[in-house]
Amino acid sequence: MAVPFSVYLFQQKEEVEWLNDELILLLNEIATATKEIAGKVRKAGLLGVLGSAGKVNVQGEEVQKLDELANEILIESLRNCGKACQITSEEVEDCLVVSESGYAVAFDPLDGSSNIDVNISIGTIFSIHRDSVMKPGKEQLAAGYVIYGPSTMLVMSLGRGVVAFTLDPESGNFLLSHPEVKLPERGKIYSINEANRDKWTSEGLRKFIDYLKGEKYTLRYVGSMVADVHRTLFKGGIFIYPADKKNAKGKLRLLYEASPMAFLIEQAGGLASTGEKPILEVVPEELHQRVPVILGSRWEVEKCLEFMREG
Ligand code: AHG
Ligand code: MN
Ligand code: MN
Repeated sequence: MAVPFSVYLFQQKEEVEWLNDELILLLNEIATATKEIAGKVRKAGLLGVLGSAGKVNVQGEEVQKLDELANEILIESLRNCGKACQITSEEVEDCLVVSESGYAVAFDPLDGSSNIDVNISIGTIFSIHRDSVMKPGKEQLAAGYVIYGPSTMLVMSLGRGVVAFTLDPESGNFLLSHPEVKLPERGKIYSINEANRDKWTSEGLRKFIDYLKGEKYTLRYVGSMVADVHRTLFKGGIFIYPADKKNAKGKLRLLYEASPMAFLIEQAGGLASTGEKPILEVVPEELHQRVPVILGSRWEVEKCLEFMREG
């Protein structure tokens, strides 16, 4: 039988010196919370949890009922397990300080909210730092996401490559299905919301996208970062959410979207940039700050940055 998530973590203790029982307990707690979320997502239409919760969050975005439910499940799990000193959620304005030191967790409880009601893949993204999340992404101890798609998959890195687990409906366990996820050096897919083309602040970016079309790339854009990054991780290519006239720093949030995804992409051999610097080098200044995101296969990201430099 494939290795269960909890067994995998204990096996990694020999390889990762800072991976201790406390962090293993925390990671297991997050995995368990996402199984509960997966259950709600799969039955959402029967539970009356589709649609809007009738409120706007700190991001100025309309909160969906499932956003709220996923947020409550994760916060309660993290509080109960007692291993998180700080909890930062996309859906909560302030950082919840639980204790002075320990593991600081930032998460997007449900990413891709606009796709919830139309049964398109969504996910949960998490990032774990020691003591505080207000550190550059390169200092993350662990980062990952769970994608609620045809399979429920947990994709994670402890800083030693990327592994993926698939939820086995029979046993209820996340079982190791991809022991080594490696990004192809170059892909054939680009992923960007081209409806915003005229608003992009970089003329070089428009030229880059036109260049890819000339290179016979295809466009895939789900509108859930988790799904677009998952496809990029497994098939290669490039995912971009750039700065535009509406969002000078782009739309995606550093702490619980850009930074954990950048960690995974770079651990899998790809690159992740804001267009000006590696995402993992950005020093956070505000809890919900946004950054432009250009991530994927090394070849495409370097080519994109070249076009953007030339303007
Ligand atoms: P969230 O649902 O957590 O607010 O995130 C939505 C994000 C991200 O998932 C996706 O890449 C992006 O919004 C899509 O934005 P557009 O609809 O503007 O393309
Ligand atoms: Mn999101
Ligand atoms: Mn979200």
